[in-house]
Amino acid sequence: MTTHPPEFQRWAAVQQNLIESQLQSLLPAADIVPQRLHEAMRYAVLGGGKRVRPLLAFAAGEVTAAAPSRVVIVGAAVELIHAYSLVHDDLPCMDDDVLRRGKPTCHVEFDEATALLVGDALQSLAFQLLAEHRLADDAVVQLEMVKLLAAASGSRGMAGGQAIDLAATGKTLTLPELEFMHIHKTGAIIRAATLLGAHCGRALDKKELARLDHFAKCIGLAFQVVDDVLDTEASTATLGKTAGKDAEQNKATYVTVLGVAQSKKLAAELRADALAAVEPFGARALRLRELADFIVLRKF
Ligand code: IPE
Ligand code: IPE
Ligand code: MG
Ligand code: MG
Ligand code: MG
Repeated sequence: MTTHPPEFQRWAAVQQNLIESQLQSLLPAADIVPQRLHEAMRYAVLGGGKRVRPLLAFAAGEVTAAAPSRVVIVGAAVELIHAYSLVHDDLPCMDDDVLRRGKPTCHVEFDEATALLVGDALQSLAFQLLAEHRLADDAVVQLEMVKLLAAASGSRGMAGGQAIDLAATGKTLTLPELEFMHIHKTGAIIRAATLLGAHCGRALDKKELARLDHFAKCIGLAFQVVDDVLDTEASTATLGKTAGKDAEQNKATYVTVLGVAQSKKLAAELRADALAAVEPFGARALRLRELADFIVLRKF
């Protein structure tokens, strides 16, 4: 996170370490039966990734003075869903990628059936976490949190967005269609991460919740717009995943519809919109603002 304030980088590193050790301890050990599946789950989750979604949960938790011991659980749950989505996204039947987080993809390192099961098991583990830890004082709120992550992951969230992505391959989408796809395949989990982090703390009123939600929607969309740009502009070495894959596979992206310059402009507008939404939170939203900057200005 080189272009970002050192103080933010230090904060991010602390939260990333917290998440890493949480994930380390909650994933089944690689010597537990079935060893190969557990080894592959740990391979797919540990020691890589920017951990942007858990960081968003921590940042939103600062708005509501949430206990870090709760936020780390929702952050881990969301990261498990995200890691599962990446393992499946890379399968030959989807994007057919061989490199992820600087390592061979899960199905390349293990095999396709194992990669499929890794996704299944990571998803179940995420919901197990939300069910077995106390995350809110009110059990009704906690049930709402489980529902929120389920909706964000399912056919009307991430999985639905992925279905649209596959159906759109080789086609030209209109801007509203593209926005719909991105909001679902990537935005939904980012939005869930943010809201879940906030729900670990004091209740927000309707207006505050709407503001936070608007922030999350804007940066969720911006995240995928930037991902599309990086796919054409960055190198495989920097990204840790194969650059230029979208063009190679005829994917419908913001770059194909708007071009690089307009896509960057859109990302900047979404960032401004996101920042305006959390302005009334003042100092409590410092980390959210810094993360919006990171998401839009990142180079990987
Ligand atoms: C990549 O997500 C997939 C998208 C949703 C665009 P990230 O860029 O957050 O990947 P990691 O977790 O840092 O590897
Ligand atoms: C992936 O979008 C979104 C999800 C994994 C849900 P991409 O296919 O663009 O992600 P990368 O570029 O492979 O990381
Ligand atoms: Mg994809
Ligand atoms: Mg992909
Ligand atoms: Mg991509």
